[in-house]
Amino acid sequence: MPPTDPPASTPPTALAGRTALVTGASRGVGRSVALSLAQLGARLLVVARDRKALAEVQQEIVDLAAAAEVFPCDLASSSEIQALVSRVDAAGGCDILVNAAGIGRIGRPLHEMPLEDFDTIFATNVRAPFLLMRAVVPYMLAHGGGDVVNISSLAGQGPLANGAAYAASKWALNGLSYSVAEELRAHNIRVSVVAPGSVNTSFGGAGKDRAKMLQPEDVAAAVTMLVTQPRHAFISELRMRSTQKP
Ligand SMILES: NC(=O)c1ccc[n+]([C@@H]2O[C@H](COP(=O)([O-])OP(=O)(O)OC[C@H]3O[C@@H](n4cnc5c(N)ncnc54)[C@H](OP(=O)(O)O)[C@@H]3O)[C@@H](O)[C@H]2O)c1
Repeated sequence: MPPTDPPASTPPTALAGRTALVTGASRGVGRSVALSLAQLGARLLVVARDRKALAEVQQEIVDLAAAAEVFPCDLASSSEIQALVSRVDAAGGCDILVNAAGIGRIGRPLHEMPLEDFDTIFATNVRAPFLLMRAVVPYMLAHGGGDVVNISSLAGQGPLANGAAYAASKWALNGLSYSVAEELRAHNIRVSVVAPGSVNTSFGGAGKDRAKMLQPEDVAAAVTMLVTQPRHAFISELRMRSTQKP
C-alpha cells in the first residue's frame, strides 16, 4: 500500500497572540501562507498592491475566526514601504514576517532586458525584504524573538537561462537571509529561506502539468512548520520539489 499523508498535528492555537505580516498575500503562495498562519491563530497583516484581492483574503481570514488588517503597498517603491512601516508600527509591530511577494519577468535573455525591469525585480525581490526586515527586527529584539521567512526559489541555487535577473535576485535574497540569520539567531530570531521549484500559481508554469507542480498550500505548510518549531530549533533553509517533473 502506498504511503498516505499523515494527519495534521500542529495545535490550532499554536500561533495565538502572534502577529504575522505576509507580503504577496493577495494571491498564490502569500495568500496560502496568510490563511495557514491564520488557521493557527495568528493575527494577520496582509500586504500587496491589489486592494480588492486583499479584501477578499481578509474576509477568508475572518471566516477562519482570525483577525486581519489590509495594507496595500507597492513594494517596489521605497517611499510606499516607508509608509507601510509606519502603519505596521501603529498596528503594534509583528512577530512573524513572511516575504512572499516576488516577480520574475522571465522569458528573455539578459541582453534584451530593459534596465527598468532589472531594477524593479531587485526592488521587489531583494530591497523590499531588506527594508521590511530592517523595520521589524528592532520590534522582535525588544520582544525577545521572532521569525522571518523569505520565499526564495530553486532559481537561487543555480542558473536560469532567460531569467538571469530573477535568479540573481534570489541568489541575493539567499545571501541576505543567511547573513542576517547569523546576526540574529542568538537573539531568538530565526531567519529562514524556503526555496521551491515550480508552484501552481499565476507566476509561471506555462506549458507545464499544473497537477504535478507544488501547490501554494505545500509552501504554506513548510512556512507553518518553520515558525512552529520549538524555539531552540532553527531550520534555516528548505528546498522543495514535486515528486514528479511537471
Ligand atoms: N510560482 C512559482 O513557480 C515559484 C517558484 C519558486 C519561487 N516562487 C516565489 O514565490 C513567491 C510567490 O510567488 P507566487 O508564485 O505566489 O506568485 P504570484 O501568484 O504571481 O503572486 C505574487 C505576489 O506578489 C505580489 N507582488 C508582486 N509585486 C509586488 C509589488 N511591487 N508590491 C507588492 N506586492 C507585489 C503580488 O500582489 P499584487 O499583484 O496584488 O501586488 C502577489 O500577491 C515569489 O517570491 C516567487 O519568486 C514562485
